[in-house]
Amino acid sequence: MKKVETKSITGIKNLTRSNIEYILELAEKLEPIVKGESQLQPLKGKKLCTFFYEPSTRTRLSFESAMLSLGGTVISMADAQKTSSVWKGETLKDTIKTIENFADVIALRHFQAGAAEEADSHSRVPIINAGDGPNEHPTQTLLDMLTIKKEKGRLDNLKVAIVGDLKHTRSAHSLTLGLSNFDNIEFVFISPESFKTNQWIKDIVLEKGNTFVESEDLENSIIDVDVIYMCRIQAERIEDPAEFAKIDGLYDLTRKLVDNCTKKPIVLHHLPRVKELSEDVDDYEGAAYFKQTYNGVLVRGALLTMVLDKVPAEYNL
Ligand code: CP
Repeated sequence: MKKVETKSITGIKNLTRSNIEYILELAEKLEPIVKGESQLQPLKGKKLCTFFYEPSTRTRLSFESAMLSLGGTVISMADAQKTSSVWKGETLKDTIKTIENFADVIALRHFQAGAAEEADSHSRVPIINAGDGPNEHPTQTLLDMLTIKKEKGRLDNLKVAIVGDLKHTRSAHSLTLGLSNFDNIEFVFISPESFKTNQWIKDIVLEKGNTFVESEDLENSIIDVDVIYMCRIQAERIEDPAEFAKIDGLYDLTRKLVDNCTKKPIVLHHLPRVKELSEDVDDYEGAAYFKQTYNGVLVRGALLTMVLDKVPAEYNL
């Protein structure tokens, strides 16, 4: 296992298997602190700025919860496009050159692909990508992978169905890239034709020695998978109403469909859900989407601790 040596975390595509294993191991070691069972405060004296240009519940609050649990403090801009000087036309560069003076690390959510990399190029302090438009959502993927590891006991040898708007869903992109670092992963990409996974992502799956199939049929394609990952339709990224109509309401994972599966798959969703995941799945023993939100605190705490170079020596990582 090897910690990430770069200043910032801008995408899963920059992380190796060894980096991912390090972060997940650190996340699990931090759990006693998050649960209040350890008095360690590795981030005492450190300040996080969460600066979000797009709405969020889970990502922003779990970053903040993790920082506070680990002894740090938080300043926050939850609605940057309306209530920060972005509204007056301030650029991303000037925004970052300003808030780097106020915090030791910045968690940035932005509507443009590549924004985290651009912010990193202007920043003295680490940037953690909390979602950049339709591109990547690396912290989501790390919590998804921690959940798979805890629930299935492994990250190799998995058949993983990813379902929905695979063209625009950054969580699906990052999960595919992240799992591609592991061995013998069979992806089943389920989407309508015009919402398929981007070619460059499929190329990486193959380059890393893994495989994929593509299907439009949810019911029959999930029968023998280990993991079902449901994605929300990214309505805010689809301008053409006719295009949106091709996918709106098309997929709905119900308890009946899950009970029809042969390998008791776990069910994940990045959340929030809209129409694609029925509440009747909530009582299914493999429903793990609210466990994901808890694991988000652990993973984001691990990333903050790592980029601030405050990993406790006694963890022997
Ligand atoms: N999964 C996710 O990013 O959720 P939020 O938009 O609520 O942060």
